[in-house]
Amino acid sequence: MTSPTPAPGSVALITGGTGGFGRALTAKLRALGITVVVADLDSERNRQVATDLGAPFVALDVTDRAANKAVVEQIEAEHGRLDAAFLNAGIAGSSRDTLDVDEFLRVVDIDLFGVVYGTEAALPALRRAGGGAVVVTASLAGLSPMSTDPGYSVAKGGAVAFVRSMAPRLTADGISITAICPGFADTAIIDPIREEFEKAGFPVLTAEEVADAMVAAWTSGEPGAAYIVQPGIGAVPYRFKGVPSAKTASGETAVVPDALRPPSMR
Ligand SMILES: NC(=O)c1ccc[n+]([C@@H]2O[C@H](COP(=O)([O-])OP(=O)(O)OC[C@H]3O[C@@H](n4cnc5c(N)ncnc54)[C@H](O)[C@@H]3O)[C@@H](O)[C@H]2O)c1
Repeated sequence: MTSPTPAPGSVALITGGTGGFGRALTAKLRALGITVVVADLDSERNRQVATDLGAPFVALDVTDRAANKAVVEQIEAEHGRLDAAFLNAGIAGSSRDTLDVDEFLRVVDIDLFGVVYGTEAALPALRRAGGGAVVVTASLAGLSPMSTDPGYSVAKGGAVAFVRSMAPRLTADGISITAICPGFADTAIIDPIREEFEKAGFPVLTAEEVADAMVAAWTSGEPGAAYIVQPGIGAVPYRFKGVPSAKTASGETAVVPDALRPPSMR
C-alpha cells in the first residue's frame, strides 16, 4: 500500500481514540492538517489524552447504537463533514482456558457490533461528503483465530467478514471499507501478556507502524481488503482463498443469481 496524503481540511473520527493506536493515529493525522475527533469511553483520563493531543473529544460507548449516530451528527454540525471513520475501539478477553460466555458476548458487542453501528452511523455522512473511507481495526486473530481467546477471534473474524461483505455495495458512492489486521503491538491491550513476549524475545509492532497502515488504508486501501501488519513485514493484503463453486447438472460452474449481487456487480 502506498500512502498518498489525505486532503488537508478533511475530518476524521477515531473510536477508541485515546488508546495506543488511536493516539498514534491522531498525532499522524493532525500533523497532516486533518481535523481529528477522538471518541472514547468517558473518563477524566481520556478527556485529558485528547486535550494533550490537541483534538476534540466526544464521549462514546461504541455498543450504544444511537450514540454512534449522535456522534456523527455532532461532528457534521461542528466540523461540517466527515471524510473517514476509523472504527478502532476494542478489548480482548482474559479468560484463557475456560469459555466465559458473558465475557465472549461483551467482546463481540464492542469489537464486532461496535463496528457495525459505527459503519451504519458514518455512511450517510460519508455520502454527504461525496465519498470517504471506513477503516476497521480488526486483528490477525480475525484471520488466524487465537486458541486463548474465542470471543476476540469471533469478533475480529466477523469484522473482517463484515468489511468484505459491505465493500462492493459502497464503491459506487466512492466509499471504501477496509480492515487492518495487526499482529501483537505495543499498547495497553497486551499489558497482561507483555512479559511473555519480552521473555521469548518475540517482536511486537509499534503503534506508529499500525497507524501508518491505517492512514494508507484510508487513502489507498483496496475496498474489502484486510491488511496484515506484522513486524518486519509492513502492511500486506491477505490473500483469501476462493471457495469451490457449485456445479450445474451438466458439470459447468454455476453462476450466482443477479439478485444476490450488489447492483454495481450485476
Ligand atoms: N495492540 C495489539 O496487539 C492489537 C493487535 C491487533 C488488533 N488490535 C486492536 O486495535 C484496536 C485498538 O487497540 P489498542 O491496541 O490501541 O489498545 P488500547 O487498549 O490502548 O485501546 C483500545 C481503546 O478502545 C477503547 N474502548 C474500549 N471499549 C470501548 C467502548 N465500549 N466504546 C468506546 N471505546 C472503547 C478503550 O478505552 C481504549 O482507549 C482494538 O480494536 C484492538 O482489538 C490491537
